[in-house]
Amino acid sequence: MSNAILLAPGPVQLHPEVQKILAQAMIHHRTPEFDQILKRVLTNLKFFFQTENPVFMHSSTGSGGMESLLVNLLSQSDEVLSIISGKFGERWAEMAETYGAKVHRLNVEWGKSVSVAEVEKFLQQNKNIKLVLCQATETSTATSHDIKGLGEVISKTPALFLVDGITAVGAYDIKMDAWKIDGLVAGSQKAVMLPTGLSFVSLSQKAWAVASTATCPRFYFDLRKELKANKNGETFYSSSVTLIKALDFVLNRIQEIGFERHFKQLRRRADFTREIAAKMNLQLFSSSPSDSVTALKLPTEIDGVKLREHLENKYLVTLMGGQDQLKGKIIRIGHMGYILDEHMIETMHRLALALKDFNYKVDPEEIKNISGEWLKAYQV
Ligand SMILES: Cc1ncc(COP(=O)(O)O)c(C=O)c1O
Repeated sequence: MSNAILLAPGPVQLHPEVQKILAQAMIHHRTPEFDQILKRVLTNLKFFFQTENPVFMHSSTGSGGMESLLVNLLSQSDEVLSIISGKFGERWAEMAETYGAKVHRLNVEWGKSVSVAEVEKFLQQNKNIKLVLCQATETSTATSHDIKGLGEVISKTPALFLVDGITAVGAYDIKMDAWKIDGLVAGSQKAVMLPTGLSFVSLSQKAWAVASTATCPRFYFDLRKELKANKNGETFYSSSVTLIKALDFVLNRIQEIGFERHFKQLRRRADFTREIAAKMNLQLFSSSPSDSVTALKLPTEIDGVKLREHLENKYLVTLMGGQDQLKGKIIRIGHMGYILDEHMIETMHRLALALKDFNYKVDPEEIKNISGEWLKAYQV
């Protein structure tokens, strides 16, 4: 079997140019060369977040960015509404509790998107809510939520709307300012197409007003310090120079391609996966499927954990399985990162081969042919 393929919903395959940048000699973060790069990156990140407000980088994984938003905005005993539709929603709720918030959990059935009307009703009945937390895409179920609709409703209340865009920002359209998002977080190993290690956060003006009086203790993630440093063309702590150099390449490249076309490329990958999966008689798990990752239900007679291992060991394809209540029941295919048509065709072909090894009725060669034809006919 030829090359290994990584189509997980993060970390993702890297552009060859990014791989070269990562191998370059180290430069110091207090040099004119890096100053130029940082300046460009901080400007381009605003474009990436579709905001006029500053976007900050932390040398942390995405969870650090989620924590940053909380510690900058919470005060002791604040009431928080946490929309929980999977593993990452639960994580954010636990974090808020750790920092002393009183968390109201709005549990959504896994695979379904939250009802905007239900959130509106909750906020009407609970006037003390300070923050509303929601994933744009809940990666564990490959489900996207109506962020625009939620922003509309939440912006009419004093509450701030915090969005975990870790599997969304840069993968499909998320307009931070226009959709009235007050805090947005992204992570480098997803649609930013880099290795793990950077998180990105931004606050609206409504959120900055809260940040200036919030009492939650904060040190590393204090955005007031970062704001001051960034205005002076620096990051407050040592910059992750190598990742930021690679980020400069990625952001420039997406700008060259154009957001619209870039998003269409991801939509094409998502559409392809859904279409070819249907040809294999595999159903979607989510009723609100995301363009960044697709979850496919596995036939009950197939153990998803074993299938994933088999795909990995025999066919060199890394996909993700289900987590928690979905363990062994779904397989998740990512659409973010550096993905060529041949990666997509081979992934579906090898998935069919692996399924056939588990006595599933599928013709891998037919799947391979249909895949190639489908992609040829659908260009963006
Ligand atoms: C939606 C979402 N939120 C949060 C996280 C956590 O990010 P990290 O693992 O980078 O801390 C992930 C990671 O997969 C995610 O997909």
